[in-house]
Amino acid sequence: MALVTTTEMFKKAYDGHYAIGAFNVNNMEIVQGITEAAGELNSPLILQVSAGARKYANHTYLVKLVEAALIENDIPIALHLDHGADFEICKACIDGGFTSVMIDGSHHSFEDNIALTKKVVEYAHSKGVVVEGELGQLAGIEDDVKVSAEDAKYTHPDEVEEFVSRTGVDSLAIAIGTSHGAFKFKPGQKPQLRFDILDEVSRRLPEFPIVLHGASSVSQEYVKIIQEHGGNLKDAIGIPEEMLRQAARSAVCKINIDSDLRLAMTAGIRQVMWENPAAFDPREYLKVGRANVKAIVAHKIKNVLGSDGKA
Ligand code: G3H
Ligand code: 13P
Ligand code: ZN
Repeated sequence: MALVTTTEMFKKAYDGHYAIGAFNVNNMEIVQGITEAAGELNSPLILQVSAGARKYANHTYLVKLVEAALIENDIPIALHLDHGADFEICKACIDGGFTSVMIDGSHHSFEDNIALTKKVVEYAHSKGVVVEGELGQLAGIEDDVKVSAEDAKYTHPDEVEEFVSRTGVDSLAIAIGTSHGAFKFKPGQKPQLRFDILDEVSRRLPEFPIVLHGASSVSQEYVKIIQEHGGNLKDAIGIPEEMLRQAARSAVCKINIDSDLRLAMTAGIRQVMWENPAAFDPREYLKVGRANVKAIVAHKIKNVLGSDGKA
């Protein structure tokens, strides 16, 4: 099967009250772990690549790894640019085989965000590629830029109709209290998401796919393994899965998960290295990391996203 855009996946997910997992890929083992899980569960999938991933692994390697996964797994896969910061990176990905890009103009003023997003949409649509825009700002770290919780801004529902109609975006990422990274809430703080904002946004944008970033749950099982094998991730806290299940049943059609995969892979590698100090064959520890990635993605698809059997 060839790469697909997210148009069909989102329509089915919206109508079927489930969400598609958008998982970040950085190397072969991560691509394999994710796609093996989705393939076995017959789930549609979005593989997303950040600017940091392109810098680390090289655009061509990532595209070829995803093409290999398409040969091995008979499921629809969209290849998406995560947090495109400017027109140039979006253009490079559109020209370089991606089927979907995000232009993240959320740090700009409303008018500048519209102008930048519209420019990307015009170019992308002329090449058959779809675009995700963002309104509102998440806290956390992405591409080495740290946004503090105080600087994070919830999406204003009264801006969404104008933003979507003036830009022509195909999906919209909103900020309702999720954040990037493994430290989403302070210890003792009650995790909360603004479902009232999500409801109001979906009321104003009927049938329109909404995206949630920063949606890792930070599995305490993997945090514990990391802690017990020489790591230091004290007080790592994520979004409770029940909240994500609720989001997946709503207008949210795409749920972004990266940190959970990083934790799963790190837990596997740490455990092997700790228990076998003489291990020095990368395959020995990477295969355990890959198996953990596969397990966490299978768990998400079945128990959080509800996209199993929907390919
Ligand atoms: O939103 C951020 C993603 O987790 C990607 O992270 O920029 O470190 O690759 P990265
Ligand atoms: P997490 O850090 O919660 O996994 O979020 C990932 C993300 O939003 C990628 O765009
Ligand atoms: Zn994100």
